Amino acid sequence: MDKLQHLLTLKDLSQEQLLALLDLGKKIKANPAQYSQALAGKSIVTLYEKQSLRTRVTFDIGIAKLGGHAVYLDQNNGALGKRESVADFAKNISCWADAIVARTFAHKTVEDLAEHGTVPVINSLSDMYHPCQGLADFLALSEQFDDLSKIKLVYIGDGNNVTHSLMFAAAITGADMVVICPEGCFPDGKVVTDAQELAAKHGGNLTLSTDPSAAKNADAIYTDTWISMGDSITFDEIKDKFAPYQVNQQMMSDLGIGYFMHCQPAHIDQEVTQEVFDGEKSLVLQQAENRMHAQNAVMVTLLT
Ligand code: CP
Ligand code: NVA
Repeated sequence: MDKLQHLLTLKDLSQEQLLALLDLGKKIKANPAQYSQALAGKSIVTLYEKQSLRTRVTFDIGIAKLGGHAVYLDQNNGALGKRESVADFAKNISCWADAIVARTFAHKTVEDLAEHGTVPVINSLSDMYHPCQGLADFLALSEQFDDLSKIKLVYIGDGNNVTHSLMFAAAITGADMVVICPEGCFPDGKVVTDAQELAAKHGGNLTLSTDPSAAKNADAIYTDTWISMGDSITFDEIKDKFAPYQVNQQMMSDLGIGYFMHCQPAHIDQEVTQEVFDGEKSLVLQQAENRMHAQNAVMVTLLT
């Protein structure tokens, strides 16, 4: 298996690499003591151009559980390209740290960090991708389904960074995926084409629809905010267009849907109702917990 250099997008992973990360994530989760010194003496710098709860906490606590150490740079001190260039951030941090974890507006910024630095870069959310989320989500799905290549995963709502990463995870594992969005809110066309090619290669399928009934018999339905960080649109401008795409109990029952998933933060009574979000079929806290285990698998893989 080729050695991974960075985690910028799941598209870069072979099926073997992706399944190995999920497998390692499960092992670390099941047996944390065995990995308590896996990254002893290693340090990461985590940079944030945007807000975070889950990502910040899971990287900080996650690396500590592996015996390593995280330095957090907030939206002021992690403001790439303002006080100094992205290239200089990358070159300087590479002098001290063993990896850079970056949450950025433009995806190009994480690519530039990887180009100019000499240590692994982990994308912890850009405008295009959220690969750590996608890995954690597929770890959560693998805890419910033995064979990911047999599941039907539906994403409903705004086609965004999280959708893109889920599309690649589904394509690489050979799952069937349906992405349901209002007209004009579909995922990036090139990402769709690339994911469809990967899906075909791995025996999966990726289709798009504007019709919420295309979620029928989904093993899991996933939604995310209708307005992502950095989007300039207002809720009033989009609420009518998105209203039929809300995940509620009626949709779950009428369409025979199995599990509910959300990366969080959730906007209750917008993309999902409280009842579904807190319901017995909701995997949201397993997803949140698995952020740490999946990322720890990524860090162990990249840094050892
Ligand atoms: N899902 C996720 O990335 O959450 P945060 O924005 O809180 O990090
Ligand atoms: N699509 C959302 C995900 C947040 C974790 C955003 O980019 O804001």
